[in-house]
Amino acid sequence: MAKALKSFACGECGAVYRRWQGKCDECGEWNTIAEEQAVVSGAPKGLSAKKGRAVELVSLDTPIKEEPRTLTGIGEFDRALGGGLVPGSAILIGGDPGIGKSTVLLQAMGALALRGHDCVYISGEEATAQVQMRAGRLGLAGAPLKLGCETSLRDILTTLDEGRPPRAVVIDSIQTLFADHVESAPGTVSQVRVCGHELISYAKRRGTVVFLVGHVTKDGQIAGPRVLEHMVDTVLYFEGDRGHQFRILRAVKNRFGGTDEIGVFEMTGAGLQEVSNPSELFLADHNSREPGSAVFAGIEGSRPVLVEIQALVARSSAANPRRAVVGWDSGRLAMVLAVLDARAGLGLAGCDVYLNVAGGLKISEPAADLAVAAALISSLAQVPVPDETVVFGEISLSGDVRSVSQTEARLKESAKLGFSKALMPAGKKGDNKGIRQEGLQRVSDLVEQFFPDGIA
Ligand code: TYD
Ligand code: MG
Repeated sequence: MAKALKSFACGECGAVYRRWQGKCDECGEWNTIAEEQAVVSGAPKGLSAKKGRAVELVSLDTPIKEEPRTLTGIGEFDRALGGGLVPGSAILIGGDPGIGKSTVLLQAMGALALRGHDCVYISGEEATAQVQMRAGRLGLAGAPLKLGCETSLRDILTTLDEGRPPRAVVIDSIQTLFADHVESAPGTVSQVRVCGHELISYAKRRGTVVFLVGHVTKDGQIAGPRVLEHMVDTVLYFEGDRGHQFRILRAVKNRFGGTDEIGVFEMTGAGLQEVSNPSELFLADHNSREPGSAVFAGIEGSRPVLVEIQALVARSSAANPRRAVVGWDSGRLAMVLAVLDARAGLGLAGCDVYLNVAGGLKISEPAADLAVAAALISSLAQVPVPDETVVFGEISLSGDVRSVSQTEARLKESAKLGFSKALMPAGKKGDNKGIRQEGLQRVSDLVEQFFPDGIA
């Protein structure tokens, strides 16, 4: 007999509780816990009641039948996936509403279909005509893509199980689906969990690649189905700033490739265009004559990306000066400011500080420390960073400049884009001939570049 148990789950992170409470202990959110109907169908009394099936155990060197990856032909998309689609894999694509998830997937499926693969696009959010109109705008009206508008999990699985399994299926979005044997509304934790689980087992069973679209809430979590992140093989986030036209597809988990790999796109009137040289895009409006701007030679995934870091430092009389950061970690900024104060005596504690990563990119690399410091000092000194110069290096609490990985790749990209000098850690130098490498031992060496006569 199926027995319904009362349970409560957090809508943010999926944590399950026996009784209601105001705050989720897992994620710390308030008012996110709601009642869920858990279905326990004939729960076994104990494992001894019925014998299971013996599982075949193999050794590690048993030859595997590796199926080739399928390329969509959209280079940036394939790159973010670690080199194409792996048969039978489940991929979660998260992102803010309106960022372009449906567009990128429609383009990828259209491209796959045009290459002769059988692809299905199930939309639970838009009507057939809407998707058709978008396909027309993307120039995909003639692509042999199969389109369905449905939200019932049972009907979707029945449709997919008919005939030969397709190469790839898109479910847009997982939050709109409902399984009729679960008594809760679409988008709740139990619905998302059950629908996700069923679709992932379908992928494994039939060897189809399943894309699940998941909306993200304001604080960057995929709403409700954080549980899904553990279940799927690959988690991609589609990021970008609505005010800017470029978008980044970032892999945060990938069982079949490197993480932190990114694909860069530009949103245009005719859909997303690939950007194969992101540095050019991020540096397009760079003005090296202004104080407070430094070019950071960063690494995103496996490729170098140059971005401009802008800082504005202004004396403040407030007891708590303002600190505003866009595109970087505010804790990290506080650390760099503290190190500059303690080890180089800059006196930034009494200043308002604004920091912006141009173009809307989000940087998480510690190697950006030195570039941030250069932008800050340059703004404070009102002296521009030297012409044609890139900056990279990690700063330690002691004020030392630490070496970072992939020096060679950073220098190569900088030289390619016309930079002739690099301010970098003294420790590890690359053997790049095209660029003058100026090694810095401590942050005070950087400060000297802007305050040659010492700090007044
Ligand atoms: P969409 O893919 O619907 O976002 P999501 O599925 O993540 O919610 O993208 C919608 C946005 O993209 C919308 O604001 C309009 C814009 N857009 C373009 O600028 N050009 C285009 O060709 C298309 C299809 C959309
Ligand atoms: Mg959409």
